[in-house]
Amino acid sequence: MLLRFLLQVLKVAGNMKKSFYITTAIDYANGSPHLGHAYEKVLTDVIARHRRLLGAEVYFLTGLDEHGQKVQQTARTRNVTPQELCDAVAEDFQGLCLKLGVSNNDYIRTTQERHKKVVCELLQRLYDKGEIYSATYSGYYSPRSEQFLNERDKIDGKWPAEFGEVQEITETNYFFKLSAYQGWLIEYLKANEAFIFPAFRAKQVLEFLKEPLNDLCISRPRERLEWGIPLPFDAGYVTYVWFDALVNYISAIGYGTEMFDKHWPADFHVIGKDILLPPHAVYWPIMLKALDIPLPKSLLVHGWWQMRGEKMSKSTGNSVNPLALVDTFGVDAFRYFLIREMNVGQDSDFSQDQFLTRYNSDLGNDLGNLVSRLLNMGHRYADGKVPLASVDGEPEITLKKLWEDTHKVVLENYASLAFHRGLELTFMFVKGINAYAEKRAPWKLAKSQSPQDKELLDTSLATMAESLRLSSVLLLAVMPQIAERIHVLLGQKVPSRWDSQSLAWGDSLVGSPLGEKVILFPRPQEEETPAPKG
Ligand code: ME8
Ligand code: MG
Repeated sequence: MLLRFLLQVLKVAGNMKKSFYITTAIDYANGSPHLGHAYEKVLTDVIARHRRLLGAEVYFLTGLDEHGQKVQQTARTRNVTPQELCDAVAEDFQGLCLKLGVSNNDYIRTTQERHKKVVCELLQRLYDKGEIYSATYSGYYSPRSEQFLNERDKIDGKWPAEFGEVQEITETNYFFKLSAYQGWLIEYLKANEAFIFPAFRAKQVLEFLKEPLNDLCISRPRERLEWGIPLPFDAGYVTYVWFDALVNYISAIGYGTEMFDKHWPADFHVIGKDILLPPHAVYWPIMLKALDIPLPKSLLVHGWWQMRGEKMSKSTGNSVNPLALVDTFGVDAFRYFLIREMNVGQDSDFSQDQFLTRYNSDLGNDLGNLVSRLLNMGHRYADGKVPLASVDGEPEITLKKLWEDTHKVVLENYASLAFHRGLELTFMFVKGINAYAEKRAPWKLAKSQSPQDKELLDTSLATMAESLRLSSVLLLAVMPQIAERIHVLLGQKVPSRWDSQSLAWGDSLVGSPLGEKVILFPRPQEEETPAPKG
């Protein structure tokens, strides 16, 4: 008996190793994906892959936010049911994930039973605990932003354009006692500085909390909004979208089951800066606190992709279609650009010129040329196999030293989420390899008959191959497909870990067969312009 009990405990404990759980925001199901959505998924994927490379068991969730007024309205204008609209949009967004090489473990849709069940369970619990009450409210309401407004939301005595047409309404609704937790939340944020990254955003939250919080209206009358989850304790109402959407982070991992204990608390909720305040920094922590559920460890708040200084969004129409860029330049070039250009937490401006510059110079000239040069010479001068490096001269020592310095700092940068800097340093190393090749000039050594020059020729090709392998190991989180292709071209399997083996300069490539010469980053076809008539 006792033994069986102990074995059971051990088994549970064994399975219970906490995963690294990371989520993205769930996208609204009322439009097509744009660069901002693509970025958030790629950024989260880079973190997920990075953690896997460090040996963590990662659980990565993304999904779709399907309820609410906007979806209901968009469906109406398109003459389809809300569910039909959501199904079509879900296909688009899931297609995007696939195309971006995003390694999510699950995709949650808020119309799924597993989600609705948890939302109802939590609402009922809060209602039974007296955290939710009914009250009649008279005031201003913005259908566009689906929220109630106060006089203090006015700017210069007028409602800001983002609220659309503001209506005056009197309504009985259900409210969640947000205000009762304001003091607790302030203390929590002060005591947990790592809760919000970057730190300047935590300051903004504390600033926001200097004003008294209102209780949160968590219901919408059925006659005004059909497309939502009915309140379990009053079928005349549906649940406010944010109260519904935030719950995805726990419904998807089976709240109340063993799986939940394995994943929760989340290590990172990755979100854009527009949805930090108030949903993720105020509603979500307070909902969890009121339910006695531990808080996520950290909110990672990224900035916006802009075009000429304005936020890219579906409503303003200044968006870039990520799929078109992927189709033209390949998925990893696209991922490289997003991660190289944006300092996580800051905003970035998108321009086609900047994209082309990165593509042509970093990827085409530096990395792509190095690969074709090496393969070319490997076939011409070394029977298509990586030769042995037998000389350790000044150029070799310099390059090895550069590797030692580079990879340590790159790892540090990745650990502190400075991926843009990690990539910058990785590509400085790639430039270092090209400089090494120029110095040794194997194409000149190949013309000589002397045995010393033959040794130098072999050394230079082997050194280029090994340093290329190492660079591609560092690129695994951001450019997984390119990193794998480079490994294949070097006759190797791609490693699954960043460890002392995969990151150490060595001679594991000796004798390895080289692939045929390829162009990794071809110049895109010029658009054909029709010849002028006449
Ligand atoms: O806010 N640059 O959905 P959403 C960078 N359903 N990121 C951007 C961006 C841009 N130009 N535009 C949008 C929602 N995003 C809610 C979330 S979570 C429980 C519910 C980011 O489709 C945005 O900041 O409007 C958010 O993190 C994500 O894309 C989805 O935005
Ligand atoms: Mg938005």
